Amino acid sequence: MSDEALANLSTEERRFEPPAGLAAGANLTAASYGDAAADRLGFWAMQAERLSWDTRWEEVLDWSDPPFAKWFVGGRLNAAYNCVDRHVEAGAGDKVAFHWVGEPEGDTRDITYAQLMDEVCQAANALTELGIEAGDRVAIYMPMIPETVVAMLACARLGAPHTVVFGGFSADALASRVLDCGAKLIITADGGYRRGAPSALKPAVDEAVAKVEAEQSGLVENVLVVRRTGQDVAFDQNIDVWWHELVAGSSTEHTCESFDAEHPLYVMYTSGTTGKPKGILHTTGGYLVGAAYTHWGIFDLKPDTDVYWCTADVGWVTGHSYTVYGPLANQSTSVMYEGVPDAPHKGRWWEIIEKYKVSIFYTAPTAIRTFMKWGDEIPAKFDMSSLRVLGSVGEPINPEAYVWYRETIGGSRTPVVDTWWQTETGAIMISPLPGVTAAKPGSAMKAIPGIVADVVNDEGESVPDGSGGYLVIKEPWPSMLRTLWGDDERFKDTYWSRFKGMYFAGDGAKKDSDGDLWLLGRVDDVMNVSGHRLSTTEIESALVSHPKVAEAAVVGASDEMTGQSPVAFVILREAAGDGGTDIVKELRDHVAKEIGAIAKPSKIMIVAELPKTRSGKIMRRLLRDVAEHRDIGDVTTLADSTVMDLIGKGMATSSQD
Ligand code: WT7
Repeated sequence: MSDEALANLSTEERRFEPPAGLAAGANLTAASYGDAAADRLGFWAMQAERLSWDTRWEEVLDWSDPPFAKWFVGGRLNAAYNCVDRHVEAGAGDKVAFHWVGEPEGDTRDITYAQLMDEVCQAANALTELGIEAGDRVAIYMPMIPETVVAMLACARLGAPHTVVFGGFSADALASRVLDCGAKLIITADGGYRRGAPSALKPAVDEAVAKVEAEQSGLVENVLVVRRTGQDVAFDQNIDVWWHELVAGSSTEHTCESFDAEHPLYVMYTSGTTGKPKGILHTTGGYLVGAAYTHWGIFDLKPDTDVYWCTADVGWVTGHSYTVYGPLANQSTSVMYEGVPDAPHKGRWWEIIEKYKVSIFYTAPTAIRTFMKWGDEIPAKFDMSSLRVLGSVGEPINPEAYVWYRETIGGSRTPVVDTWWQTETGAIMISPLPGVTAAKPGSAMKAIPGIVADVVNDEGESVPDGSGGYLVIKEPWPSMLRTLWGDDERFKDTYWSRFKGMYFAGDGAKKDSDGDLWLLGRVDDVMNVSGHRLSTTEIESALVSHPKVAEAAVVGASDEMTGQSPVAFVILREAAGDGGTDIVKELRDHVAKEIGAIAKPSKIMIVAELPKTRSGKIMRRLLRDVAEHRDIGDVTTLADSTVMDLIGKGMATSSQD
């Protein structure tokens, strides 16, 4: 955020009061804050009652060995049972769990809770047949189709932690995740639909399997393949198995076992400040309590009347907590959509809202800004009067986008909840409450009931209202990450070493004069591109793995549409000469191959030198100034201050969008 925008925070005068009707019947009320503050653990125990436990917990929280938390100690439950079976047992078998909408028009499917239960049981039996047992890891690399949810729940049912890898990630990224968590099964599809055309997934899995095989022979025993597009794919009889052959032929009877509340539920990889992604570990009881409570409270979910839609891909944590686990635990009816917002036309999302009478809608600021650019006349063609609560997540939402979202999509009736959280937190942490808060556009407002957040200075002291600093969480919470997969030390270092006894989120924040929170973006070498987290170091490693590259520095430059975008400064190897005419494209494609298309730098500047301090550290701040076309300030600590002149010249000649 620019200094000017920062200064504007304190002058924001607009307040959006909750609609009277919503406030009168809201799930969370002003009293919830007091209840949680008076007895935090009692409050969380009350939230845990939303779930069905086979064995009740003996202790709400064991924090005797921080930062390693145990929640609902001694409790036993099954996550899939809580998301599916118990609703069927309660007589809601005919209720629609998902209105699934494929990208090709007319390709839709309504899935009831009873059908979902049958399919999850079949898949659980099929996985058992493939040798999957409690504790085994399963990688899922899928498009947004019902089988993806079925696969996740089947894993949960068996106590086999899943690791869902976003379908837009490369074969290399998939391979490194499979290796890191030791997955013995990969569930995938032949492909999915993207902008009207089938796009393949299976070839990337084949490539990943070969890579894994070279590193750790025999690790991946099987690949289970859903036929989605029908395109031709290579099929290795030794490891590949068709879903429609194995799963569809399996029994719909499956008795589930309960697991300890701290049994691993899933690992979700996210970018950190080093090149190696971190495997965020979430466990069963606390995570499900957090997802269910926040989904019910922050969106004011009324399971009998609401139709809920979160647009996030299941390959990200938002899809885990707010497309799968939270909504299903709460017996919601949700929309799930396979495709992109502009296929086959730019009103596709609004058409879906109109058709299914969506009442709660959750998406990201990047999408909102894109729709703003496309023009008001597109949403105006659709009846969206069913909407009553809107949510935003993934990055700071600028006040203009917030107000546009509220007015143009929400018809000026709907509260907008700007929800701050992270892969690590598992669930929403800071947000307005739709029935309580007089929300300020652009502010996530306050920690929700049950969560204790603060903004601190370099010494870890709480800053006064009107000041900025680092966002921290001061008390443990049920859906917190338990560790990084296989790396307790990195877990402690990354989150718990900066400020004693506090969780350091990696975000800057400011308290305004009322004490409300404004998130200011990452303070580390992590950037946020369209609400997705990317590491500068990871992109740098990808660039230097190219034979023509000697050195690379990447910064997140602010971008009007995507929040930030990666800009790379590259020094070529002597032998590569000027790199050739296609060097920029070649390097961008290389990054896409190494990580995924979302990590492609928007600009690559070929330069002769990089600005470094005398100790050899790259001065990313200066590079960011160049990338954002700002005047370069004090460069006296540079080892060679002529470097910036050279960079400036490089930018003039080699930048490309
Ligand atoms: C980072 C977490 C969990 C949601 C998807 C992203 C940024 C997230 C907000 C918000 C300002 C936000 C933070 C955070 N972020 N939501 N409402 N306002 N910033 O999950 O990939 O784990 O990224 O996204 O910088 O640290 P993630």
